[in-house]
This record gives sequence, structure tokens and C-alpha cells, in this order.
Amino acid sequence: MISTKPKDKLIIALDGDSLKHAAKLVDTLKAEVSNFKIGMQLFTACGPDSIKMVQDHGGKVFLDLKYHDIPSTVSKAVYIATKHKVAMINVHATGGRKMMAEALAASRDAAEGEPPLIIGVTVLTSMESLGDIGIQFEIREQVIRLAQLAQEVGLNGVLASPLEIQPIRQVCGKKFIIMTPGIRLAGTHLDDQARIASPKQAIAAGADFLVIGRPITEAKNPLEVVKSILKDMA
Ligand code: C5P
Repeated sequence: MISTKPKDKLIIALDGDSLKHAAKLVDTLKAEVSNFKIGMQLFTACGPDSIKMVQDHGGKVFLDLKYHDIPSTVSKAVYIATKHKVAMINVHATGGRKMMAEALAASRDAAEGEPPLIIGVTVLTSMESLGDIGIQFEIREQVIRLAQLAQEVGLNGVLASPLEIQPIRQVCGKKFIIMTPGIRLAGTHLDDQARIASPKQAIAAGADFLVIGRPITEAKNPLEVVKSILKDMA
């Protein structure tokens, strides 16, 4: 059962390359939020120590390494990630049915308690069109196709832009988890995100989790920004 409290729905993206800096952020924010995302930058710089650091502060980890490789390689990586007791792991849905199925099975084999949520990445929120990479469909069509495939395989949910939450809900139903990055408060910088919404809009559209990084991590006062995001979500 997914918590409906804003505190549990907001995931802070700890993008950076310093464990010390990330630890300071977690320490500052842990009273307000439960989930922290470790992506490829922090993990490449600091490895599994970054997972341990969040867990030692009492936080839950979303390991955002967006696995995409042959099924055997991805499933072995997911097995190890599950052994690190992370709460959520993502894999690219474009890796295909077999890759997602083997990843899911590996997480179930490795889990000693509650298995991690396995989330499929649909189309990155920074993408503005798919023509350049040889995909002739509109983004929305491609997102729905990948969400349906992820659901058929048995994944717990998908990552998609806020603009695609409603069509995914219509097709995949209420229980399928939708996680969304690409969140910006009105009047703030878009960075490289293209398909965006505010926290309030994303929650109203039916998102289960919001992933937010730079608006918080690069703020002068991250705690104040988190408080205003939680207020907007409520
Ligand atoms: O700084 P910002 O709020 O844009 O951070 C969004 C985070 O979500 C980044 O860590 C990025 O890697 C991640 N993400 C994304 N789009 C996806 C999946 C993850 O932006 N589809």
C-alpha cells in the first residue's frame, strides 16, 4: 500500500559527487521526507557507501541507475541492488519484456523482507521528440506503450513526465505506481527538463511519487524549498 502522505511521496534526488555534501542534505531534510534517490552521478562517485549513508540516517533509497543491458547483466545487478536493501530500483522499459521480467525475478529471489519496487523508465522527461532516435510515434503514444508493457511483465510502476500521468492512469488503472520527475515550482528554472508541471499539478493528475532534485539541492535553503513543495502537494 502506497502512503498518501506528502512526506512519503516526495523523493529527493541527491545528484552530486560528494558523499559529505549528500549526507549534509539528508541530515537537513530527513525530518521532512522519507525517500532519497541515488542516481548515476553519486553512485559512480561514491558507490554503495552512498546507499548506506542514507540508510544510516533512517532514509529509504530509490536506486536510480536506469538499468538497460542484456537480461542476464541487468538481473545480476538488480540482485545485488536488492541485497543492499534499497526500496526502489528502476530499469529502462525499452530494454524489453525479457529484461524486465528477469530483473523482477532477481529482485524477488534476493529480497529477504519486502522486495523493492521495480519501476520502468518510459521516456525521459528531458526528451522533446523521438524522431532523432528513429522512433516515429508521438512521445505520449510511446510512453503508454512502454507503461503497458511494464505492467504486463508485472513491474510495480513507471517513471514518466507529469504530462503523461493521466493517460497512463486511464490505461493502467489505479494501482499501478506512477513516479514523476520534471517537477518545477512556478517561476523557477527548468534546467534541462522539458515536459514539466508543478508539485500540485502532478499530485492532482494522480502521481504517487514526485522526484525533485536541483530546485531543492541547489537552493540556498533546501529545507525551506522542501517545506514549500510539501505545502503545494498537500
Ligand atoms: O534536478 P531535477 O529535479 O531535474 O532532477 C530530476 C531527477 O530525476 C534527476 O536525478 C534525473 O536523473 C531523474 N530522472 C529524470 N527523468 C526520468 C527519470 C529520472 O529526470 N525519466
